[in-house]
Amino acid sequence: MEELVRKSVLKVDPYVAGKPIEETKRQLGLKEVIKLASNENPLGPSPRAVSAISKALKEINRYPDSQSFYLKKKLARHYSLETDNFVIGNGSDELIDIIIKTFLEPGENIVTSDCTFLEYGIMAQVNERMIKKVPLRYFKYDLEAVLRAVDKKTKLVFIANPNNPTGTYVTREEVADFLEALDDSVTVVFDEAYDSFIDVNDYPDSIGLLRKKKRVIVLKTFSKAYGLAGLRLGYAVSDKNTVSYLERMRQPFNVNMLAQAAGVAALDDRDFLKKSRRAVLEGKKFIYKELSGMGLGFTPSVANFILIDTGRDCLEVFKSMLKFGVIVRDMKQYNLKNFIRVTVGTQTENKRFVRVLKKVLKEKNR
Ligand SMILES: Cc1ncc(COP(=O)(O)O)c(C=O)c1O
Repeated sequence: MEELVRKSVLKVDPYVAGKPIEETKRQLGLKEVIKLASNENPLGPSPRAVSAISKALKEINRYPDSQSFYLKKKLARHYSLETDNFVIGNGSDELIDIIIKTFLEPGENIVTSDCTFLEYGIMAQVNERMIKKVPLRYFKYDLEAVLRAVDKKTKLVFIANPNNPTGTYVTREEVADFLEALDDSVTVVFDEAYDSFIDVNDYPDSIGLLRKKKRVIVLKTFSKAYGLAGLRLGYAVSDKNTVSYLERMRQPFNVNMLAQAAGVAALDDRDFLKKSRRAVLEGKKFIYKELSGMGLGFTPSVANFILIDTGRDCLEVFKSMLKFGVIVRDMKQYNLKNFIRVTVGTQTENKRFVRVLKKVLKEKNR
């Protein structure tokens, strides 16, 4: 069978997603299962988006608007930019693929970190392009090391800011120095999937960098703060030329009608955004305090998840927690053998997470 497909297909590490909650309940015979593994919004979707989807449902006999006209218009107003500064994607995942397809010839490479969002590596493999990964420094992107890794064949740098799975960020000053030293032939992609949860003053103004004509693409998503992960909606912001190239590489109807309608409505849902943010900030404070009480190490996060050093084999911890109906993400794929990543949930979910973690670690101590 292997000889029937392209050789490069065999080299792709498939993305490992968790099982659906209903299936996990059935398999384990549990009534209540909470999923804190995919950095989703525990409050549900934006109510304004839900109501827009209900209205749009009656129209789904038609193809969606290939240009996502109304969504681009809304985004342009939101950022004080123009509609042709935006590419809309079926999740920012799709845009990662489109960016790689647009920029890299065979033999050219991408530079990123060795402990970051897995899609950069997977999409590089799918497109048969090289990716150079530099180690983190104190759980943070090491921009000096990234700079050293850039060579004549480098076309793209991917920076998840905040980084998944660590929750750390690179500062405005670090980014300014980095861009100053970087050759103009390299385009930097700032993936800001979690920017709505930021509560620090020195986070970079990536859209401002674009205005200063830096070679930058900024990725954003509706999956996290707006609670629309299941719809698949993200966008890239860049200069008009770059946008026109990216636009050529996408499918004509890549963004479905319901997602477009939901995106337009969600951008007006300030209340929901505020609530989502508050839930994350308060939830993190509670979890941090509990983890400190348990003597566990963790990286302070500016996102909606926390990376925790359990001091035990992470797969064991994951499996034991699952038995009590709590799904977290083990960090084996990221080579962090003792770490789990937990998404901040509702306060009830956070309490249950802490209770189960305590129980599981106590059992493992015996
Ligand atoms: C850093 C980062 N970028 C992008 C994504 C994917 O976003 P989307 O749902 O828009 O494809 C995620 C999802 O977990 C992420 O962690």
